[in-house]
Amino acid sequence: VGAALGKHVALIGFMGAGKTTVGAEVAERLGRPFVDVDRRVEDATGTTVAKLFQQSEATFRAAETAQALRTLRSRPAAVIALGGGAVNSDQIRAALRQHAVTVLLEVPVDEAWRRVRRGGRPLAQDELHFRALYEKRRPLYEACADARGRTAEDVVLAAGAVHVGHGASELLGELVPGTGPVALVADSRVAGIHGPKVQSALGERLVSSHQLPAGEDAKTLAACERLWAELSLERHGTLVALGGGATTDAAGFVAATYLRGIAWAAVPSTLVGQVDAAIGGKTAVNLPHGKNLLGAFHWPARTIIDPALLATLPADERANGMAEVVKTGLLAGQPLWELAEAELVRRCAAFKTALCLRDPYERGPRTALNLGHTFAHALEAGARYVSLPHGRAVALGLQAALRLSVEHAGLDHSVLEQVEQLLDPQPAAVDRGLAHAALFRDKKATGGTPRLVLLERPGRPLIGVELPEAAVHGALDALIAG
Ligand SMILES: NC(=O)c1ccc[n+]([C@@H]2O[C@H](COP(=O)([O-])OP(=O)(O)OC[C@H]3O[C@@H](n4cnc5c(N)ncnc54)[C@H](O)[C@@H]3O)[C@@H](O)[C@H]2O)c1
Repeated sequence: VGAALGKHVALIGFMGAGKTTVGAEVAERLGRPFVDVDRRVEDATGTTVAKLFQQSEATFRAAETAQALRTLRSRPAAVIALGGGAVNSDQIRAALRQHAVTVLLEVPVDEAWRRVRRGGRPLAQDELHFRALYEKRRPLYEACADARGRTAEDVVLAAGAVHVGHGASELLGELVPGTGPVALVADSRVAGIHGPKVQSALGERLVSSHQLPAGEDAKTLAACERLWAELSLERHGTLVALGGGATTDAAGFVAATYLRGIAWAAVPSTLVGQVDAAIGGKTAVNLPHGKNLLGAFHWPARTIIDPALLATLPADERANGMAEVVKTGLLAGQPLWELAEAELVRRCAAFKTALCLRDPYERGPRTALNLGHTFAHALEAGARYVSLPHGRAVALGLQAALRLSVEHAGLDHSVLEQVEQLLDPQPAAVDRGLAHAALFRDKKATGGTPRLVLLERPGRPLIGVELPEAAVHGALDALIAG
């Protein structure tokens, strides 16, 4: 199945499920056109759906099939709301399989009836008939759907092949797409804690288990080389990566390159992984002279997020994750950090998924996710990639980006204060020279000055901002102790 990269997102479901409302919202979030097939039918026939039905249901169905097929076979990839009965057509079902990620928008029958009973829809005139039709269509919807949900957020996650659910790691046998063999690659520490449970969930599909060094040490070519040599999967196999962002970055890179690319599923076990690193297909390892210098875009066939895995996460790792959560909340313009953990994970994951689907290869809006990261990477280089946790570097980087935003982009000072209160960033003792050199060698630099992401206000990032060199130097300096 996989994500809706270059594919339509098609919404199916019964009358009154909210396909038009939710579809329009999803389209907005993904930056795609929204197509309501019923409206297309009306435009094409110059009459209303109700009037076509009056002629005969067959007249309407013929027009519907023609418009649905035309839409599904056309590009650019859109968000498409199909009529409630469209899935009765074999041709439409085949086109859905070929051209779309299909999401069933679920609605209880009582609610559906409440919503449509006075709307004059041809098939919602009689309650008993309406309820019978609901029962009759239900199995068909379920058979056609790649995923189900109720809200725009559910649809966005489904479109990105992201599954969020408490206990999901115990259902991996079903949640890892396909039925073929699986190799499990786990962070060595996480393997000791959650490995047995995950192995048993994968059941007979599991053909081999491998470990990567815990944490950032996974992101080396030497670790990848060991894995390339150990793997015995064929091209139809799937690599399952269990661990934090370091593990999913490295294992995803191995999946991108092994046999010229095999499918992989990410099972993130840290807050950073669940809200950020395991979503969107960026994989990478480090080179001695810099972080993430070698990598590939390789979107997971599914990202399976189980917030229950976070129960064993040490407090400092959780704090690291909060920096990414605060970043996400600032970009989304919502205080996502105030939510309870499971909901926080879900909302942040949905935000990142939408942005990455909008811009899978980071050519435009996705760059906003680098808010604070230019400075964070410089600090990590200044720490020689050993003594400064990524999350702490991000907290400091956010502080620098927000200070510059106050000075140069009109950001209200209270936002900076709030973030400082939340993350309490303390200057880091890193090598000043190395940090400055890294800032101006940052891979996002053009013409020597780094292009920054600033914030005009929460929810309104500015990307590609160039500031005078002295201002950027000064902002970095203020983050360094001593
Ligand atoms: N690809 C992307 O889009 C992206 C985005 C953000 C960050 N990243 C990368 O992610 C990495 C940081 O990831 P991270 O913060 O998840 O750290 P990490 O993967 O280094 O893990 C941190 C530590 O937590 C331990 N751990 C993981 N899960 C655990 C659990 N459930 N219980 C107990 N211990 C557990 C690990 O063994 C490790 O020691 C960086 O390399 C960063 O560059 C990538």
